[in-house]
Amino acid sequence: MQKKKNIIITIDGPAGAGKSTVTHDVAQKLGIPYLDTGAIYRSVAFICHKNGVSPNNEPALVKTLKNFKITITSDKILANNIDVTKEIRTHEMDQLVSPYAANATVRANLLDLQRSQAKNGLVADGRDMGTCVFPDADLKIFLTATAETRAKRRFLERQAKGQNPNFDEILKDVIRRDDYDMNREIAPLKPALGAWILDSSDMTQDEVTEKIVAVAKKLMQE
Ligand code: DC
Repeated sequence: MQKKKNIIITIDGPAGAGKSTVTHDVAQKLGIPYLDTGAIYRSVAFICHKNGVSPNNEPALVKTLKNFKITITSDKILANNIDVTKEIRTHEMDQLVSPYAANATVRANLLDLQRSQAKNGLVADGRDMGTCVFPDADLKIFLTATAETRAKRRFLERQAKGQNPNFDEILKDVIRRDDYDMNREIAPLKPALGAWILDSSDMTQDEVTEKIVAVAKKLMQE
């Protein structure tokens, strides 16, 4: 039987476009690893904040990143051996993370960590997977949806987790973060060259997953 090719798929897009679920499901259907890079940025922000390291304090940031260790399993994220799985998904963390993610030192320090995960193929989601981290990826996707659709999805997600979300706050936050991510100087959010732009506003996450899996399966057999 012909051996399947190891492929790299990048899924970038704005907050709440459904990237995490789609990335996870695509990886599972194709039997290849997946990487949620937002969780890495959130974990860095969590550790920095916990240690009182602001995004402007370069020497302290460098030191923190040098000692930063992350272990991601299917149900847990450990940052410096602390279980941060729940803590990195709060509204407070949504608000704290952007300036850390916009910092050049932080981004440069996380490049090797992200690339080292791709030895057996990978589906990676984030903002700059196709533009910066894996520019030679086999399949680059820019997954998007209207701000209202994305805010509604995040609202329902939080509710399901037993939190007490406020829709208007989430919508404001989605718009604020889009603006921040798209207009930052380093690795701004934009479709990679040759990216397939998928608008999921009128699609279920399963439909999005199926579309991507169909194309990826063909690429794996080439
Ligand atoms: O996808 P998310 O909401 O979990 O991402 C958290 C933050 O990290 C968000 O501000 C965007 C940023 N991020 C980034 O700059 N680059 C990535 N590859 C992934 C996330």
